[in-house]
Amino acid sequence: MARTRSAVPRRYLMCPPAHFTVRYSLNPWMDPGKPVDTPLALAQWEQLRAVYRSLGHTVRELAPVPGLPDMVFTANGATVADGRVFGARFAHPEREPEAEAHLEWFAEHGFGHLHVPTHINEGEGDLAVTASYLLGGRGFRTNPLAHGEAQEFFGRPVIGLELVDPRFYHLDLALAVLDDAADEVAYYPGAFSPGSREVLRRLFPDALLATEEDALAFGLNAVSDGLHVVLSQTAAGLFGPLRERGFEPVGVDVGELHRGGGSVKCCSLELRG
Ligand code: ARG
Repeated sequence: MARTRSAVPRRYLMCPPAHFTVRYSLNPWMDPGKPVDTPLALAQWEQLRAVYRSLGHTVRELAPVPGLPDMVFTANGATVADGRVFGARFAHPEREPEAEAHLEWFAEHGFGHLHVPTHINEGEGDLAVTASYLLGGRGFRTNPLAHGEAQEFFGRPVIGLELVDPRFYHLDLALAVLDDAADEVAYYPGAFSPGSREVLRRLFPDALLATEEDALAFGLNAVSDGLHVVLSQTAAGLFGPLRERGFEPVGVDVGELHRGGGSVKCCSLELRG
């Protein structure tokens, strides 16, 4: 039965894809042989920003840096909870300078509690915040030691989850937090190792299980405010199940950004607390 849901206004850090392109390949989605339509990516990104604003959310902007084509994926630049900022350390040298750009932005915008990490972690790409836990992805990018480091910094338990399918190289491609006040998530089981699937079943017995098709359509790379779930419009199979649970799916077209291997959530770093 559908619950009554309510939206909580959010703050997101976004970065316009002014320099977005695909000239190297860090994941199976990226094909440097196919030209990217940067103006189209920018228009789609502006539409996503307009959707957030129309829902009453605040969007802060990080200035794009020439030569950093993946900077539009701000979710990878840090993890913010309780006003504390756990910085990123990227797995690939191509993205390394993004971590510094993020830390500078946070320092300049009044976030006093900043942590420069020792271990490789790509921000919210592999760290999801629920009411009770931090869910930590590993297997492709994040060093498992970063989980302990994040747990110590935030004082929240980190549940490690092993990713096994390279198409879902970040946790936020395989799992979405639908209600962060109630530990409600959606995930695609096939992206996880058998043991991690079992962990997810124990922790989230009522989770919405996504199909491979909807996960491949970036449907789990979604952003929820507790009521509205903003997600790629191509993940059509998720709209019905979300409505049945009382959510309002809001479909957007960010197809040009999918060519970098990211969608809605990757473009939105939530500033919590
Ligand atoms: N091209 C980027 C990379 O491979 C995409 C990052 C997508 N972001 C995300 N949060 N999953 O690093």
